[in-house]
Amino acid sequence: TQPLKVALLGCGVVGSEVARIMTTHATDLAQRIGAPVELAGVAVRRPGRVREGIDPALLTTDAEGLVKRGDIDVVVEVIGGIEPARSLILAAMENGASVVSANKALLAEDGATLHAAAAKHGVDLYYEASVAGAIPLLRPLRESLAGDKVNRVLGIVNGTTNFILDRMDSTGAGFAEALDEATQLGYAEADPTADIEGFDAAAKAAILAGLAFHTRVTAADVYREGITEVTAADVASARTMDCVVKLLAICERGADGTSVSARVHPAMIPRSHPLASVREAYNAVFVESEAAGSLMFYGPGAGGAPTASAVLGDLVAVCRNKLSETTGPGESAYANLSVRPVGEA
Ligand code: HSE
Repeated sequence: TQPLKVALLGCGVVGSEVARIMTTHATDLAQRIGAPVELAGVAVRRPGRVREGIDPALLTTDAEGLVKRGDIDVVVEVIGGIEPARSLILAAMENGASVVSANKALLAEDGATLHAAAAKHGVDLYYEASVAGAIPLLRPLRESLAGDKVNRVLGIVNGTTNFILDRMDSTGAGFAEALDEATQLGYAEADPTADIEGFDAAAKAAILAGLAFHTRVTAADVYREGITEVTAADVASARTMDCVVKLLAICERGADGTSVSARVHPAMIPRSHPLASVREAYNAVFVESEAAGSLMFYGPGAGGAPTASAVLGDLVAVCRNKLSETTGPGESAYANLSVRPVGEA
């Protein structure tokens, strides 16, 4: 069987793990997919940097040239940010490639454009890694729960802030000290603003709300409050009430049936609540639906290898679809619900 050709855009913390696992697990992946997968090119910003286990001949700074080559079956986008990621994904689709992305900011801002392009060109768009790292969450919402009615999605979707709040709770550290530690451990994004100001969690909440309620929700629709104002004193006083402070993302269907709301803010929760025991950079998300009841998804929400696990799961899925000349579920945003500003009844 002809190998499926994969182009990797970005070779940072996540991308390098994707490349590593593609190489070390090549035989298993080929068996699961039904054809070998070949890393055909890796777009990077700094080609001179040594990347262990990656053939230097595959490295290029010309990401556009790579996605437009014409022989690429799947493009894996792990550069993040809006541009050039969006243009590269659209060019990849135009050239017949399916796309696996970990890009929550882009999906939350302009998922509609990407989904429309995927449908137009008959290719896949999968993005499990964009929310809650390794935790299978989007596929369950898109597929396993497709016959149910989800009313609420609530949880911890940012590992960095959870790590910071956990450290503040367990050691009494101040915010700045805990942030330093999170950065050193590689949890925080290059610019930690997205994490600590809640933008990262808001983007994830938008993606979750869109999938859960089959409607379009963008990051701008999400009420957002980060954790920069949370002090050691706040955490200590929560402690005296047997509570912990957590940054929660809450997506709800309105009781009227015509609206949804999504918000991200720090909240005090009782120590006896399952979310209180989510430590370090772990994530946990409750999905409440009519028939299934309450489901809890828990696991590593950030970090190279866990996020790569989700990327590779998508890679296997889109490669299988390619081989059987089919596509997975596209956008299911038929519901057209209004997004209710938080605070309004
Ligand atoms: N910075 C993100 C987090 C990475 O801390 O959760 C995973 O999206």
